[in-house]
Amino acid sequence: MIKVLFVCLGNICRSPMAQFVFKQIVEEKGLANQFEIDSAATEGYNEMCHAGIHHGTREILTAMHVPFEQHYSRRIRPTDYAYYDYILAMDDCNVEDIQAIVGLDTENKIYRLLDFTSNPRNIKDPWYTGNFDETYWDIVEGCDAFLKHLKM
Ligand code: 4NP
Repeated sequence: MIKVLFVCLGNICRSPMAQFVFKQIVEEKGLANQFEIDSAATEGYNEMCHAGIHHGTREILTAMHVPFEQHYSRRIRPTDYAYYDYILAMDDCNVEDIQAIVGLDTENKIYRLLDFTSNPRNIKDPWYTGNFDETYWDIVEGCDAFLKHLKM
C-alpha cells in the first residue's frame, strides 16, 4: 500500500483537486487497492472553520467528470510524516511550511507534485489567480508524472 498525502495552504482548492484527480487515475488503471490517498493543509484556519472543498474546485472536477466526495480541510500533523510514504506539496512555500510542522525530510518523502515532470515548478494558487482550469491541467500533468515515477 502506497500512502500519498497531497498538501496545499488551505486544503480547499489544490490539494483536494489533486486527491480526487489522482484517485480517478489510479481507479481507471485498476490500481486503487494499492493506494491510500488523502489531502491536508499547512494552515489551520480552514480546519477551524470546518471548510469544505472550494466551489471552483468542485466546478472543475464536475466539468471534467472527476468523481469526488465531501472533504473537510484538516491541517497536516507531525505524525503524518511517519504514516505517509509521499507528501506531495503544490509549491515551495508548502514544502517549507510542511517541514516547519513535521521536521526535516530525513526519509525523502516531501516533493512538489510538479517535481516529477520534465518542467518542475509550483502550482499557482487558484484562490488568488481564480484560474481553476490551469490548476486542473497542472495537477493532471503532475499526477501522471508521479505515477510514471512509481513505474505503475
Ligand atoms: P489552496 O488555496 O491552498 O489551494 O487550498 C487557498 C485556500 C484558502 C486560503 C488560501 C489559499 N485562505 O487564505 O483561506
